[in-house]
Amino acid sequence: MLAHRLIERKRDGGRIEPGEWRALALAYAKGHVPDYQMAALLMACFLRGLERSETAALTEAMLLSGDRLDLEYLGRPRIDKHSTGGVGDKVSLVLAPLVASLGVAVPMMSGRSLGHTGGTLDKLESIPGFRTNLTLAEAKAQLETLGCAMMGQTPEIAPADKKMYALRDATATVESIPLIASSIMSKKLAEGLTGLVLDMKRGSGALIQDLDRVLELADVMINLGTDHGCPVVALVTAMDRPLGRACGNALEVEEAIAALKGEGPDDLMDVTYALGAEMLVLADVCDDSASARVELENAIATGRAAERFQRIIEAQGGNPGVVDDPAALPQAAEVEIFTAARRGFVARVEPKTIGRGIIEMGGGRTRVEDAADPSVGLVITARPGDWVEAGEPLATIFARDRTGIGSGRHALRAAIVIADEAEPPLPLISHRITSRGVELYSA
Ligand code: URA
Repeated sequence: MLAHRLIERKRDGGRIEPGEWRALALAYAKGHVPDYQMAALLMACFLRGLERSETAALTEAMLLSGDRLDLEYLGRPRIDKHSTGGVGDKVSLVLAPLVASLGVAVPMMSGRSLGHTGGTLDKLESIPGFRTNLTLAEAKAQLETLGCAMMGQTPEIAPADKKMYALRDATATVESIPLIASSIMSKKLAEGLTGLVLDMKRGSGALIQDLDRVLELADVMINLGTDHGCPVVALVTAMDRPLGRACGNALEVEEAIAALKGEGPDDLMDVTYALGAEMLVLADVCDDSASARVELENAIATGRAAERFQRIIEAQGGNPGVVDDPAALPQAAEVEIFTAARRGFVARVEPKTIGRGIIEMGGGRTRVEDAADPSVGLVITARPGDWVEAGEPLATIFARDRTGIGSGRHALRAAIVIADEAEPPLPLISHRITSRGVELYSA
């Protein structure tokens, strides 16, 4: 009866009280509330919205539906990074070992690809043998020895969110600021962090495209963190084009390894260093972002960060040889260069079209239970604003067969727009948001 009453009230624009959210989240996690009732309630929340205090109560309720990691015994700052998702976004693969190599514990709990966006777990699993389904005990042991665990949401962490997020994905109720904020923050707060850095994507390939709504989402999440004693800093970064060049699981791991060796593309390095600097300052390892950047660059130049990634891979059952020899990653059977059909400026490289093209090629998933082929993807060297001549290479297609090459070509033809003029793309990093407000980003 509780669920029916709450659906009715939210449908009519009323509010749900903290005790009611708690009872509902617990009952749902235990299977005492059916999916059809929860789906109806989520749609009512999506359409009617939640007051800030309701968002806080829902976050708390989902957090309390499971366990909270107690990592104080590590005696180190514990900082994670969360991205709202995009195409070519392999920052976590570089950032987690990099920041861990500088003395910060990084309990990185990530998700799978869904829709057109990629997922860190799928990328990691393209490393032969790599296990992302660590138990909490395994994660804790690894945080103690290596300062980093790269894993999925365990059954103990915010189980109500786990079920609700899957249901939202199936019922077109994902794109709601209070539901996104409470979902992400319930999981992050369960990690027992001392600080959190958010990479808020904006632009045509982002979950929320419009800047004002991105800033509002950041503000809600920062407040939720503050309420729980977890300082949160957010950077707004561009997702109107893919990040870096590689899109596709094994190809992105290869690019992340190159980045850990100091050979990553500039945009990937800039976003990684900017987020890493925020993590080191939040951790009190550095006083300001300029000195933090020097530390980060140094950890890459000395090989310390790449070595940490190698040890993490080994600890999680993967083949650490991929760091020295990326050819040990799954390789596509067919490779083809894609060239420009005309001369002109690259006006757009549309991330959603790229992400959907990779799904079509078999490298992504349309349902959580689908298997993705790790070897397929697109490496796009053309950047918005570049001048190109007809016949010039713009990208390389990696596919499992000729049909996949055709799908890749089709996606690239639609995604890469060449025109006589090109509008400037979004600034790579545009805003920094803290509990004190929004400022324009300056490195
Ligand atoms: N990621 C999450 O974990 N939850 C959301 O609602 C959206 C993105």
